[in-house]
Amino acid sequence: MGTWQEFLLKFFLVFFSLSLTKNPIQGGGTSLTNAEIEELERQLNALNKPPVKTIHTTWGDIVDCIDIYKQSAFDHPSLKNHKIHMRPSFYPKERTSKFEDQIEPSNLRSEGINCPEGTVPNRRTTKDELIRAKSLSKKNKSPNSTKLTVSTGYARMLVKPSDNETLIHGASASMFIYNPQIGENQYSSTQFWIQNGSPNEENTTNSLHAGWIVSNLYNDSQTRLFGYWTSDGSNNTGCYNTLCGGFVQIHPTYYLGIPIDVVSTPQLQRYIDINVHQDKDTGNWWFVIAGNVAIGYWPNHIFTSLQEGADRILFGGSAGLNEEGIGPPMGSGSFLDGLLPHECQLRNSAILYYNSDFVFIRDRNLTITSENNCRWYTVDYYVGDLRGPHDIVAIGGPGGACNEI
Ligand SMILES: *[C@@H]1O[C@H](CO)[C@@H](O)[C@H](O)[C@H]1NC(C)=O
Ligand SMILES: *[C@@H]1O[C@H](CO)[C@@H](O)[C@H](O)[C@H]1NC(C)=O
Ligand SMILES: *[C@@H]1O[C@H](CO)[C@@H](O)[C@H](O)[C@H]1NC(C)=O
Ligand SMILES: *[C@@H]1O[C@H](CO)[C@@H](O)[C@H](O)[C@H]1NC(C)=O
Ligand SMILES: *[C@@H]1O[C@H](CO)[C@@H](O)[C@H](O)[C@H]1NC(C)=O
Ligand SMILES: *[C@@H]1O[C@H](CO)[C@@H](O)[C@H](O)[C@H]1NC(C)=O
Repeated sequence: MGTWQEFLLKFFLVFFSLSLTKNPIQGGGTSLTNAEIEELERQLNALNKPPVKTIHTTWGDIVDCIDIYKQSAFDHPSLKNHKIHMRPSFYPKERTSKFEDQIEPSNLRSEGINCPEGTVPNRRTTKDELIRAKSLSKKNKSPNSTKLTVSTGYARMLVKPSDNETLIHGASASMFIYNPQIGENQYSSTQFWIQNGSPNEENTTNSLHAGWIVSNLYNDSQTRLFGYWTSDGSNNTGCYNTLCGGFVQIHPTYYLGIPIDVVSTPQLQRYIDINVHQDKDTGNWWFVIAGNVAIGYWPNHIFTSLQEGADRILFGGSAGLNEEGIGPPMGSGSFLDGLLPHECQLRNSAILYYNSDFVFIRDRNLTITSENNCRWYTVDYYVGDLRGPHDIVAIGGPGGACNEI
């Protein structure tokens, strides 16, 4: 073993013994039992694979380049013999032209991250992050609308094919980027949800989320790219980004959780183009930015009902409420008032059917319903030419006490 490798190994061991002896543990207002602490330590050990190269980024993340075949994705029990796919078999085409101020991947923070061939970036996870992730993941459970208390506020449009038989194989949106200010145990995201499973049995819901988020998870205020999955309504499965086995990282530079370096101003709206689509050959769900930059995928095998496709898509915003039920600002932080500078838009919001030649389409035969569980957030939907050439979902709100009626 070369000396630098020994050094890394030592560094790694020291890192772990430090993190293991550090005094835990209060997270999200819940204290943990010894068994839970042990489980967290086991998970941490599994997540932070031995690095081939370590990059200390200027934005605070420590990024390890790890063997692509040893990434934590494969800790998922269904992926023991998974064959890695390096690219999707197709990129869905946009029927419409891009906007001029569409951001390119270069607007993601990436300085210095270029993992050597055969390795992929793996953002190093801390124990505190795992604890916070656990409490945030609880917030992801779809709230029961008959209860007054919810842990997540949302404002979104539910989109379903009106025949309710056609399955959906992807979603796409150009999302305005903002940097809402969050407090303890809060998050604020702009995203879409790709779902399947009976809404009456939330523990069967398979769900993929993609978008940007400012989250207490990271204990900082940066706007970051994110993904989330679950195959049981967030009861026992799933996580953000790569905080558990599941998501297979492919791209050598961009990873789920990477900060986005630009935000919209009242004068100039900046977007990131995100699509998640299901590969026809493998059924894997690919996370793609800027049209053709594939970050990685969620393998078909980790799902129970998304394997065949999705039965609904939601476009909008989500807000993690703190213990008092207070939600942070959503989008630009303003209610919708018809003025572009105040809106957080998801432009080009579109869904993908296989039978449409791998084109994201804006099918007018959709059932579109707004869902909003908090009066401090607003959502609206525009079709056609009044406000712009494309289908637009707009969200925003200052946040506040979501459990007040
Ligand atoms: C919501 O909760 C109530 C009581 O806890 C229950 O009776 C009801 O069936 C639930 N509704 C849904 C949609 O899960
Ligand atoms: C669509 O769903 C409704 C309610 O779940 C059901 O009654 C109806 O039969 C379904 N239609 C089709 C074409 O499957
Ligand atoms: C889902 O919840 C229902 C009732 O809460 C339960 O009967 C069922 O076994 C659960 N299913 C799974 C897969 O956990
Ligand atoms: C959630 O998971 C726990 C532990 O596996 C199980 O006991 C419980 O029934 C599940 N809850 C639902 C709603 O399925
Ligand atoms: C979170 O960030 C604050 C301010 O940067 C810092 O003082 C605190 O120690 C951090 N907390 C954790 C758990 O890392
Ligand atoms: C829209 O739905 C109606 C009734 O369900 C159907 O007759 C029509 O063919 C559909 N149009 C398209 C373009 O799919």
